[in-house]
Parts: sequence; structure tokens; C-alpha cells
Amino acid sequence: MQRVFSGIQPSGIPTLGNYLGAIRNWVALQAEHDCLYCVVDLHAITTWQEPETLRQQTRELAAAIIACGVDPERHILFHQSAVPAHARLAWIFNCVARIGWLNRMTQFKDKAGKDREAASAGLYVYPNLMAADILAYHATRVPVGDDQKQHLELANDIAQKFNHDYATPFFPLIEPLIMPEAARVMSLRDGTKKMSKSDPSDQSRINLGDDADAIAGKIRKARTDAEPLPSDPEGLEGRAEARNLVGIYGALAGMTPAAVLAEYGGQGFAGFKDALAALTVAKLTPIGAETKRLLADPGYIDRLLFDGAARAGAIANPIVAEAERLVGFLQRPSV
Ligand code: TYM
Repeated sequence: MQRVFSGIQPSGIPTLGNYLGAIRNWVALQAEHDCLYCVVDLHAITTWQEPETLRQQTRELAAAIIACGVDPERHILFHQSAVPAHARLAWIFNCVARIGWLNRMTQFKDKAGKDREAASAGLYVYPNLMAADILAYHATRVPVGDDQKQHLELANDIAQKFNHDYATPFFPLIEPLIMPEAARVMSLRDGTKKMSKSDPSDQSRINLGDDADAIAGKIRKARTDAEPLPSDPEGLEGRAEARNLVGIYGALAGMTPAAVLAEYGGQGFAGFKDALAALTVAKLTPIGAETKRLLADPGYIDRLLFDGAARAGAIANPIVAEAERLVGFLQRPSV
């Protein structure tokens, strides 16, 4: 059975983008795969995180992932810092990846902004840690949103260079699983920017914990243009905000954009936004309620994550120990 691995940063409250682009697919893959899902706190500190907030967001994210339908008993849910194998393999990959490869990463350029000199070294080598996350388990299937595609291509370059340098087929090739319907959920304030948990404007995104009023309010205020909805998807060309709302509706309702437009084409946005708000509330508020219920016992979430970490470590430790042997590190003598 092929192993699935994916991760999400506890750098904020998860958004509708995280849900439609990733977590929803994590849930679906459980039926036919062994899955590992990781709250990547090591990745989160590549940009400043207030320590107590980070701790709280790690728990909240784990609770939200379970509330979405990830089963932490049949599969593995854990936090990255509790499995040191990730950092050990990441160091080896820091020495395999080339600076020129990292210089091409668009996410570093976006996140570092104008003052690149002031970005953390961790932000720069972030994709090497991501490659280690996946390859420490020899995982081959990685469900992500479109924004992670370049990082996964880099992970494959790293795996190939390692295999070449050490003359071994040790690391497998990774296959990104990107669901086209919601690969890129955009900001509600600007249809050219992706919806992000770290956007300073809360109005730009729908959070998984938002209540019905907040969801309806954000959708009502979402930016649109003055034209009515077109009757077919070609008419969405050049209308980023309209395309985004139609895409969200379709992803939540399990409909193609064409089917959504067959129903709402020719109408103004007011009625469509009401329908979209009702659908979003119906899908998300049960997740919010379940997250809250789980968080009432933070000790339970912590135990669950550490239990997941022990099971994850049992898979990763021998793989990373073998990578260390291949590199030429001394092996612990058997007693
Ligand atoms: P992160 O925390 O930014 O996002 C988690 C997942 O959500 C997807 N996503 C989106 N999909 C569609 N539309 C959006 N607006 C949107 N925003 C986020 C992301 O593509 C991602 O799948 N580097 C990763 C975390 C990571 C990881 C890994 C992923 C660390 N190690 C190993 C896969 C495998 C990240 O920052 O995701």
C-alpha cells in the first residue's frame, strides 16, 4: 500500500483554502492508504510565532483536522517537533540541495518580501525540511494545494540527487496529488491573492472556526464586479473574484463550475452570495462545533499527538538511520 504524507503549519487558524485544497483530500485518501498527517511546528517558526500562541494553535489545528474527519487511530496525526528524524534528515538534505535550486523557490520570494537579508535562514531551507518530512517515511503520495507544487518538485530533485550521489535507489519518487477543483482558493478581498491564514485581514478568508454570522458577513462583503454571473465558465475569464466564488461553491457542493453557472448564470451576485453563504455555513459549522468540543480537553489532544509521534517515529527512525549509514555516519554498535 502506498504511503500518504501531508503537513500543515500551525501559523494561524486553518482556512477554507486549507480545507478545500488539502484537508478534505486527506480525509478521502484514508480509505485506501496508510496516511500520516503532520502539524508542522518546525516549519511554523521559520517566521516569528509567539510561543504560547504557537502551542495553542498546534492543538487547535490538530482538533480541526480530526473534526474534518481524519481518524487519528487508524492513521497517524502528530506534531513535527516530536519526531527528531525530520530534523536529522533535513540536515542531510541541506547538504544535498543546491543553493541555486532554493533561489528559484517562489514561496521564499513571496514570504521574505523586499528585505530578503532579514529573513530567517530557516525560511530559506524550508523546502529541504519539507522533503525530509515526506521522505523520512518513504511516502509517495502527497495531497496538497497548488502552491506546494514547486516544493514537491524540489523534493524529487533532492531525492534523485541523494540517490545519484550515494549510488542507491533509496528514496522513491513523490507524486503530488492536487485536486483541480479547489487547488487555489483565493482571498475574498482580492481574487489574485491566495486565501491565507497569515493574511493580516480576517475579512480575506473564512476560518474553519467562524460562526454562521461571520461566514455570512464575509461572503456578503466579498469583493465582486458589477456584471451578472456569466452563463458558462469561459465568461469567468478575467473575472478573478467571480471565478473564485463559483469555484468555492462548486467545490463545496461537488459540482463543476459549468453546473454552478447553469443554475446561477445571468443572475446578480446578491442571490448567489446568499446561496454560497448557506452552503458554506452548512458545511463548516459542524466542523467548528466538533473542534470546540475536542478542545475542551486539551490533555486529550496532547496525548493523541504524542501517541501519533511515537508511531510516526517507529516508521521514520529506521529509514533515517539507513540514510545516515549511506552518508557515512557511524552506526550505533549493537549490544
Ligand atoms: P500550509 O500550512 O500553507 O497549507 C496547508 C495545505 O493547504 C493548502 N492550501 C491551499 N489550498 C488551496 N487554496 C488555498 N488558498 C490554500 N492555502 C493553503 C496548501 O497547499 C497545503 O497543502 N509547506 C506546507 C506544509 C508542509 C507540507 C510538508 C505539505 C510541510 N511539510 C510535507 C506536504 C508535505 C505549508 O506551508 O502548507
